[in-house]
Amino acid sequence: MRNVAVIGSQWGDEGKGKIVDWLSSEADVVVRFQGGHNAGHTLVIDGITYKLRLLPSGIVRKNKISIIGNGVVIDPWAFLDEIDEIKSKGVKVGLDNLIISESANLILPFHKEMDEIREDAAGKAKIGTTRRGIGPAYEDKIGRRSIRVMDLISEKNLSQRLETVLLHHNAIRKGLGKNIFKKDKLKEDLLKIAPEILKFSQPVWKKIYEFKKQSKKILFEGAQGILLDVDHGTYPFVTSSNTVASAAATGSGCGPNSINYVLGITKAYTTRVGEGPFPTELKDDIGEKLGTRGKEFGTVTSRKRRCGWFDGVLVRQTIKISGIDGIALTKLDVLDELDEIKMCIAYEINGKKIDYLPAAVEDQLKVKPIYKSFKGWKSETKGIKKFDDLPQNAKIYIKELEKFIETKVSSISTSPERNDTILIVDPFKS
Ligand code: GDP
Ligand code: IMO
Ligand code: MG
Repeated sequence: MRNVAVIGSQWGDEGKGKIVDWLSSEADVVVRFQGGHNAGHTLVIDGITYKLRLLPSGIVRKNKISIIGNGVVIDPWAFLDEIDEIKSKGVKVGLDNLIISESANLILPFHKEMDEIREDAAGKAKIGTTRRGIGPAYEDKIGRRSIRVMDLISEKNLSQRLETVLLHHNAIRKGLGKNIFKKDKLKEDLLKIAPEILKFSQPVWKKIYEFKKQSKKILFEGAQGILLDVDHGTYPFVTSSNTVASAAATGSGCGPNSINYVLGITKAYTTRVGEGPFPTELKDDIGEKLGTRGKEFGTVTSRKRRCGWFDGVLVRQTIKISGIDGIALTKLDVLDELDEIKMCIAYEINGKKIDYLPAAVEDQLKVKPIYKSFKGWKSETKGIKKFDDLPQNAKIYIKELEKFIETKVSSISTSPERNDTILIVDPFKS
């Protein structure tokens, strides 16, 4: 039995959705384990585009089980809307193919409001969040005052828990001069949708244990990327969950030994949405070109993504932090028209050369990238499915990248379409 964790090795939007969908032909079960509907995972299947936020990317395939684990924060209304949306595209969603953890924590309207209040009040210090309430919901989870899926079962229990969590929120809201959030309307609204949510809820740890015993292949689908990890990312410009591979174990209720291969999804250049350090960012024509050709607009918020060269220092670092066994290199085709391609191989800070990203955000903002230059291939790679068919200069770029990050390139993606992918190492078999 082999289980695979797919995670982003940069700042998110590396193409995880596409690769999870492609790999899920081989998997039996696909599990989301952290994040929430801040994620936006795009799948393109025979010209039809599917955008998934909370639902695992396995949902579009027949006869696969999709699971939302305890580590995910669920906005119940966003969850139900997404089910309706995907159903309207002809995808079947029901109790036989979707399970959510009874222990998952809920994102409620006051979380979204708190996210917005804080971002609006922060001025230049804003994080540039997706304003979905992700941070405030995780804070309440860690603060032990959160409402979980299972709390929707009993009105009395729900009422008491809402009381507790609103005591906290209303104290802050009062301090910030905002209105008091009323409990009763929210309780009513929640009780109305409770049966629709509860019907999907199960003890996920138990289901996963059973699937493992049946030798089912499990694909864990990460959201965001390691540089947005709350411990290992560019703090405080991060999301509020752990995005590293080991979060797949805690966020679904299985041991770390249930993950046999960690696949790091890696864009052939770099993008970032929101604020924060970005050493290889290009604020020039080339940055614009990457954005236009790569269609770099946020799936969730439609914000323009910042673009820059591939940062080998960062990816080599995130590979080590998360124990990545191999990378899937995506969006190679976006580089097709460039005369010259650059890769960051070290930084300079205060006259010194360093080979890693320092932990302090002040230093992260100061580092200057040192580049290695490559000749562009100036021919189309879009849709290529065999490594040998790639242009020589593209092969040189990939091989040098592989050497620099000290990790195998196990697949290469050459277009948004599911099957426009070069398989080098099958993570379920290696
Ligand atoms: P995720 O959040 O990691 O799943 O990535 P997103 O879906 O937010 O963003 C990746 C974008 O790139 C989506 O629009 C994909 O359809 C697209 N994409 C994925 N792989 C490729 C590729 O190899 N080439 C091109 N041109 N686009 C790709
Ligand atoms: P996928 O799964 C890219 C970014 C936000 C912001 C920071 C914190 O599609 O790769 P949050 O709303 O999580 O509190 O915002 O994290 N961010 C993402 N950036 N891809 C994502 O997800 C992201 N999810 C959050 O832009 O900078
Ligand atoms: Mg995305």
